[in-house]
Amino acid sequence: MKKIISKLFSEEIDDSLLFKYDDEEFSKLMLIEHLDQHSFGASRARSFIKREVEFISKVFSELNIGRNLLDIGCGPGFYCDDFNYSGYSCDGVDMSPSVIEFAKDNIRDSQFHCCKIQELISPKKYDAALVLFGLLNEIEDADSFISSTSKHVKGDGYLVLEVMHPHFFNSLVSESINVSGRETPSCFSKSSHVRVTKRFFSKERDCLVNRSMVVDDNGMMKLYESHFTCYDLEKATRLLENNGFTDVQCIQSPQTGEFSYESYYHYIIAKKQPLD
Ligand SMILES: C[S@@+](CC[C@H](N)C(=O)[O-])C[C@H]1O[C@@H](n2cnc3c(N)ncnc32)[C@H](O)[C@@H]1O
Repeated sequence: MKKIISKLFSEEIDDSLLFKYDDEEFSKLMLIEHLDQHSFGASRARSFIKREVEFISKVFSELNIGRNLLDIGCGPGFYCDDFNYSGYSCDGVDMSPSVIEFAKDNIRDSQFHCCKIQELISPKKYDAALVLFGLLNEIEDADSFISSTSKHVKGDGYLVLEVMHPHFFNSLVSESINVSGRETPSCFSKSSHVRVTKRFFSKERDCLVNRSMVVDDNGMMKLYESHFTCYDLEKATRLLENNGFTDVQCIQSPQTGEFSYESYYHYIIAKKQPLD
């Protein structure tokens, strides 16, 4: 107990506590969280996704972007489903086995791959790749992530990154302790549990560390941690230009209103340089 509590408050990064998205057991709990319409820990509510897809589709038609899309970190495939419904053909890739199993069983007209984008082998090239709901903020090696993504985008195709708005990111940094409780399962536990979250900023790794201590019904205690990197337009532009993208622009979602985990994100859109 003493050891766990002192670890919770220590300000040293511990990569061994990071979420293991590809772990079978963790993936089953993640799926519960994805399907929970009242929690935004993994996926947003379907009504929110529907409005977001309408907005992105409008931006795509203004930019004359083609209809073949790849959603990276697609979770259970809700964005793919809504894009298909809007006349696109959207495939998905995610490293979490249970969420891809769900997507394959429930989402029609999409092809789903269960692997990291860095490991995806597919002959298909897409008009646009999507990296939504802040996935890029969580990626440790952003250069390899973006260069792997680029391989699946056509020359002159697009990449859409939905990243945390820097104001939202800063609000998370300033909120150092948070206590919450859940009676229903979440990605942290199958039974009811209390979660104490401590945040600190690591200058050395340039990321926000979100460390949670979870205590469940049986008194079991566990620590988890996530790392988030902030992308303002300048930093995103550097990352994208270093990996073969150009024409980087930032677009605000109309759903970005108050600071909220579900909504306070914005889009960075870039074009892949044409292939010779
Ligand atoms: C916050 S969830 C978002 C799910 C989905 N985009 C949504 O909004 O409903 C992030 C997802 O990205 C997946 N993921 C993380 N790193 C990945 C990688 N390198 N390649 C593919 N999927 C990844 C995780 O397994 C997880 O399902």
